[in-house]
Amino acid sequence: MGTLPFSPLVVVVVFSLLFSSCFALTSHEAAAIARRQLLNFEQHGDHVHIDIDIKIRISNPRLLAAHRALHALKEALYSDPTNFTGNWVGPDVCSYNGVLCVPSLDNQSVSAVASLDMNGADVAGYLPREIGLLADLAVLHLNSNRFCGVIPEEIKDMAQLYELDVSNNRLVGAFPDPVLRVPKLSYLDIRFNDFEGPIPPELFLKPYDAIFLNNNRFTSGIPHTIGKSTASVIVLANNDLGGCIPASIGQAAATLDQFIFINNSLIGCLPVESGLLGNATVFDVSHNLLTGTIPPTLDGLTKVEQLDLSHNTFTGLVPRYICELPALTNLSVSYNFFVGEDAKCSSMLDAKHGKSFEDEANCLGSARPMQRSGGECAPAVSHSVDCSKTKPCGWPAPAQKLAPKRAKHSPPPQPPPPATVLSPAPPAPVLSPPSPVFSPPPPTTSPPPPAVSPPPPIMPPPPPIHEAVILPPILGSRYQSPPPPQFAGY
Ligand SMILES: *[C@@H]1O[C@H](CO)[C@@H](O)[C@H](O)[C@H]1NC(C)=O
Ligand SMILES: *[C@@H]1O[C@H](CO)[C@@H](O)[C@H](O)[C@H]1NC(C)=O
Ligand SMILES: *[C@@H]1O[C@H](CO)[C@@H](O)[C@H](O)[C@H]1NC(C)=O
Ligand SMILES: *[C@@H]1O[C@H](CO)[C@@H](O)[C@H](O)[C@H]1NC(C)=O
Ligand SMILES: *[C@@H]1O[C@H](CO)[C@@H](O)[C@H](O)[C@H]1NC(C)=O
Repeated sequence: MGTLPFSPLVVVVVFSLLFSSCFALTSHEAAAIARRQLLNFEQHGDHVHIDIDIKIRISNPRLLAAHRALHALKEALYSDPTNFTGNWVGPDVCSYNGVLCVPSLDNQSVSAVASLDMNGADVAGYLPREIGLLADLAVLHLNSNRFCGVIPEEIKDMAQLYELDVSNNRLVGAFPDPVLRVPKLSYLDIRFNDFEGPIPPELFLKPYDAIFLNNNRFTSGIPHTIGKSTASVIVLANNDLGGCIPASIGQAAATLDQFIFINNSLIGCLPVESGLLGNATVFDVSHNLLTGTIPPTLDGLTKVEQLDLSHNTFTGLVPRYICELPALTNLSVSYNFFVGEDAKCSSMLDAKHGKSFEDEANCLGSARPMQRSGGECAPAVSHSVDCSKTKPCGWPAPAQKLAPKRAKHSPPPQPPPPATVLSPAPPAPVLSPPSPVFSPPPPTTSPPPPAVSPPPPIMPPPPPIHEAVILPPILGSRYQSPPPPQFAGY
C-alpha cells in the first residue's frame, strides 16, 4: 500500500514539538514504542516486502531496497527532535542525512548505501524489520539515540556489515543473537542498553576485533570460550556476570589488548593464566569480589599500562615485580586487604614520573596513609584464600581444608567467604570515586595504544564517515562510539 507520503510526518512534528527538550523517554513511552515494533513484526510475518511506488522511479534495485528500508525506519520514529530525517524524502537516498553511498562491490558503475550514521541524532523509535534490506551496508551507527525494543532478526541479511554500533539506546531483551549471524561483523558495540541474561558462548568464537557489552544487565558468568576470542578489546564492565574469570583467558593472549571486566560481581582468584596476556595494555578487574593473592605470573604483563585491581578483596603482598612492569603508568590496588607492599612501588610510580600508584584502604598499617583499621583487616586477613588450593576457575576446592568444620552442605559454588561477609564497608561496588567508568572518555593518558589490529574498514565503503560525529577515541580501539551522554533515567 503506497503509504509513502506520510501522515506520520504530522505525528513526528507534533512529537518533536512536545519532546524536543525532553531527552529521555519515560518507561511508558518506551513500552509504547516497543509495542509498535511488535505490531510491525506481526504485520510482516516472515517477509519483508519492497513496495514499489510508481511515483518513485529508482532503477537501481539496491537503492530501491534501501529506499524502502530508510522510509520504514523513518516511519518507525516516534520522535525526531533535530529533524534528522527531515530530508529523507524523494528518490535520491544517497542525499539523505546520515547516508553514504559508494560504488557497489560487484558493479562499480552502480551505487549502494554503504553507511548509515545516526549517531547522536536523539531520535526515538524502533528498528523495523526492513532495516535488513540495507544489504550493502558496511557501517551502521545508531548510537546515542532512543531506540527501544529489540534488534530485528533481519539484521543478519546485512551481508557486508562490518561495524555495528547501537550503543546508548534503550534496546532490551536477551543478547541479540541475530547479530551473531551477520557474516562479516567485526566491531560489535551494544553497550549502554538494557540487554539481559547470559552472554552466548558463541560470541567469543566470532572473529570480531572489538566487543563492547558494558553497561547492560548481563548475568550468568563469563563463557569459557573467551579464551578463543580474537578480539583486541573486550569490555564487559558494569554488568552483573558473577562467577569467576575463566582460566582460558590466557589463550586470548595473541590479540587481547584491553581486558576490562570492571564491576561484575566476579569472585574467586585471579587465574594464573592472566599473566599470559603479554599484549594487554589495559587490565582492569576493579570493583569485583576477587580474592586471594596476586599471582606471581602477573609479571608477564609486560605491555600493561593500566593495571587496576582496586575494590576487590585481595590479600597478601603487592610485590615489586608488579610495580616494575616495564610499560606501567597507572597501578591501583586500593580498597583491598593487602598487608604489605614493596617500598619501591610508591616511589617508582609517582606523579613526578607521570605515573600513578594508589593503595589507600588496604591493611598496610601506619606505613601508608589512609589505611583500614585493624578491626576491619583482621577477619579478612585471617581468612585469606589460598589460590593454590582452589579449582582452576577459582571455586574453592571441595570443602576440606578451607572449611573443615562445616559439612559440605552447600552446593559447590560458594564464593570464598573471607572479607566479603565480615567487613561491611569495603568492596561496595557502588561508590566509584576513582573510576568514572566509561562515561566520559577516560582521559587516555597513555597514548591510546593503537589497537593491536587496527580494524581495517576493508569493506566497500570508506571508513567511518563524518569524523566529527564520531568523537574521540576512548581506550584506543580505532573506532570508538561516542561516550554515552547520560540520559536522565539511566
Ligand atoms: C525538517 O527538514 C526539512 C528538510 O530539510 C525541512 O523541509 C522541514 O521544514 C524541517 N522541519 C522542521 C520542523 O524543521
Ligand atoms: C553494472 O550496472 C550497469 C547499470 O545497471 C549495467 O548496465 C552493467 O551491465 C552492470 N555491469 C555488470 C558487470 O553487471
Ligand atoms: C555496577 O554495575 C551495576 C549493574 O550491574 C550498576 O548498577 C552500578 O551502577 C555499577 N557501579 C558503578 C560504580 O558503575
Ligand atoms: C603479541 O602480539 C604479537 C604480534 O601479533 C605476537 O607475535 C605475540 O605472540 C603476542 N604475544 C603473546 C604473548 O601472545
Ligand atoms: C594515570 O596516572 C596519571 C598520572 O597520575 C593520571 O593523570 C591519569 O589520570 C591516570 N590515568 C588513569 C586512567 O587513571
